[in-house]
Amino acid sequence: MDRIKIIGGNQLNGVIPISGAKNAALPLMIASLMTDDTLTLENVPHLADVEQLIRILGNHGVDYSVNGRREHQDNGYSRTIHFTARNIVDTTAPYELVSKMRASFWVIGPLLARMGEANVSLPGGCAIGTRPVDLLLECLIALGAEIDIDNGYAKARAPNGLIGAEYTFPKVSVGATHVMLMAAALAKGETIIHNAAREPEVVNLADCLNAMGAKISGAGNSTITIQGVTNLTGARVRVIPDRIETGTYAMAVAMTGGDVLLKGAQEELLSSALDTLRQTGAEITSTPEGIRVVRNGNGIKPVDITTEPFPGFPTDLQAQFMGLMTKAQGTSKITETIFENRFMHVQELARLGAKISLSGQTATVEGVERLKGAPVMATDLRASASLVIAGLAAEGETIINRVYHLDRGFEHLEEKLSRCGAQIERISG
Ligand code: UD1
Repeated sequence: MDRIKIIGGNQLNGVIPISGAKNAALPLMIASLMTDDTLTLENVPHLADVEQLIRILGNHGVDYSVNGRREHQDNGYSRTIHFTARNIVDTTAPYELVSKMRASFWVIGPLLARMGEANVSLPGGCAIGTRPVDLLLECLIALGAEIDIDNGYAKARAPNGLIGAEYTFPKVSVGATHVMLMAAALAKGETIIHNAAREPEVVNLADCLNAMGAKISGAGNSTITIQGVTNLTGARVRVIPDRIETGTYAMAVAMTGGDVLLKGAQEELLSSALDTLRQTGAEITSTPEGIRVVRNGNGIKPVDITTEPFPGFPTDLQAQFMGLMTKAQGTSKITETIFENRFMHVQELARLGAKISLSGQTATVEGVERLKGAPVMATDLRASASLVIAGLAAEGETIINRVYHLDRGFEHLEEKLSRCGAQIERISG
């Protein structure tokens, strides 16, 4: 298994290209199941989760082809991929595939809407809490689906098609909003979703579905209205820049000091996190090319945060922000409201010398002057990123084990950081 070795202490200076968002690319790829025409996605990041979803979609009958790098795509990472689901050959998503990536459960919406049936394995446990799928199923039942749970599978049927409905989510869920959008796009009549997730990835999906011929208005607000259509066509859609990758590198610069342009990043995708970073003392400016992050000389000021659905502070940046706060000049409180058990990085950060105490859903971080390198273990995707941030500022050598977590969501992480002056390398094997 690969490991990452970091020798901490260097500032970051230069340019980091921001990749397409993993969390936007996944639902857009799944939307390709909804038409027999070709859906072309630009700016798809090269990530383990994307490759895994390509395998899952292939199992349902989706063909794909990848364009070579275009000359104007100067960052050299993103790809344009064409997805064509001419025929759906299988409406079952088996446990072996779904258990590897939770988001693949979302195929239930398109399969049900297009084929009138779907058998999708329940995703099972997950390192950051129980993460049930009750909301994803309830919104489909609201659209007229019949669902049985049998032998670990959700068996969904809508023999006469789905029917538009008015539905209020009892809790904000990104995945359930994606699923309901896709299902309602091909349902008969009007659907109104209340308490929908407002994340930029939901807007990217709604824009994609509209480009395919759907009639969706209001995405980005808590109420979304969908007029069902009978079929969707192909389209060409661009994946939005990754706001979590943007925030992660912004926090890395705030941690090490330096001056970095996050090329292609967009402030409006993560205003709340950037405002928080400004309060810690980083200078952040939006330019036509991206977001520039500078921290020179001054120490890191402690700031309290609470994670919230968009537009609040994202849970996917909580671990990285905690990494930054371990070296703040004072004490900060970090409260996690979205996921239970999303503090697995605390023990690992402690191995680097961080002082963190946990009480329920709140972590109290007492900033220390020095972190010291150590072997640590990546426990999930975002937790791993927090260890990178801490490692970049720790004295001596930090070895991060179980790097496959990072590979799920960060494209060329060590290359991007080392080009800006970090001493970071991958050790294979
Ligand atoms: C997505 C993101 C993930 C991010 C999360 C919250 C992707 C691929 N993943 O995950 O990175 O951390 O949004 O911003 O886009 N819940 C239920 N029942 C359900 C579904 C969810 O109780 O049926 C709960 C979850 O346990 C959690 C909360 O709702 O407490 C929010 O989860 P949700 O927004 O659905 O997360 P995902 O879509 O899985």
